[in-house]
Amino acid sequence: MSKINLKKLENQAKKDIKKAENLKELNLVFSRYLGKKGELNSVLRSLEKLSLKEKAKIGKKANFIKSFLKTEIEKKSSLIKEKERVQAEDWFDVTVPGKKITLGHLHPLTLARRKVEEIFQSMGFFVAEGPDMEKEWYNFDALNIPKDHPARDLWDTFYLKNGLLLRTHTSPVQVRYMEKNNPPLRIIVPGNVFRHEATDASHEFQLFQVEGLMVDREISVANLKAVVGQFFKSFFEKDINFRLRPDYFPFTEPSFDIAIECLVCRGKKCPACKETGWMEVAGAGMVHPNVFKNSGLIPAPLADGWQGWAFGFGLERMAMLKYKINDIRLFRSNDLRFLKQF
Ligand code: DAH
Repeated sequence: MSKINLKKLENQAKKDIKKAENLKELNLVFSRYLGKKGELNSVLRSLEKLSLKEKAKIGKKANFIKSFLKTEIEKKSSLIKEKERVQAEDWFDVTVPGKKITLGHLHPLTLARRKVEEIFQSMGFFVAEGPDMEKEWYNFDALNIPKDHPARDLWDTFYLKNGLLLRTHTSPVQVRYMEKNNPPLRIIVPGNVFRHEATDASHEFQLFQVEGLMVDREISVANLKAVVGQFFKSFFEKDINFRLRPDYFPFTEPSFDIAIECLVCRGKKCPACKETGWMEVAGAGMVHPNVFKNSGLIPAPLADGWQGWAFGFGLERMAMLKYKINDIRLFRSNDLRFLKQF
């Protein structure tokens, strides 16, 4: 075999090594060129017929190619092995069913709050907020509840060492908002409130209230009834009978309690409504002139005076009625069996 043919053989072998995609193919390449009956050996065998000089020359070349191809095949072999190892690690069975991802969900109070905000926003109300730690002035005095007045006992208060208190209701935000914003106003104020109270199935020391306030030139109880009625209808997603009865709050005059017809018995009287047919859900009234004055506004009927109504209801109570929950303590008990139902 001539030198040219050896070169050709070498090039062909190199190409075949390159082409081999797996160990089986590579083994075939090995046997074809380097095996006992392989092409290189047949070259070496054919040397017998040649002259000594040529034997030495071509033999040397052939042996050189032999060991060269051997290392090339070894290199390729470890390359293939590494590739197969990586592929084995990356391999996954696309037919195996996936793990179910458990999605978190919203707390019933958050659901109720969002619903309330959505309804009032659709009626042009702005959602305002105020601080949980409040000054005595905003929580009481500005709301027409003077110091040492027995009405203060309506709210059992947590007083703080820093001279502030934990607000007992969201009503102080009425004053805070009116101080900074000129009427006409339409706001709701969702927020936590705190009461120094013993807990039972219908009492908690931390509650969530939603305050409402509407101020304009000519505002009456009729506006209050219309807005509240629309709110109940949208919140409970059905027609709701409700009534206003006289009540007392220092910051409104006249004041009302708002009750809806029992959702369980529809007014027929049952244990859920304590056999009354009604469920109290909110306090409300026409904003007291002193509250306007304390907020820096002129009350009607003075010239350029303002009128308005306000309400405050407990979100827990509303959520209990909507979702049929019978113990207020469940909301903050962190019991997953309860929370997972929403
Ligand atoms: N702040 C009262 C409470 O926590 C509820 C309330 C009653 C709010 C009458 C009002 C209102 O705005 O007009 O018991």
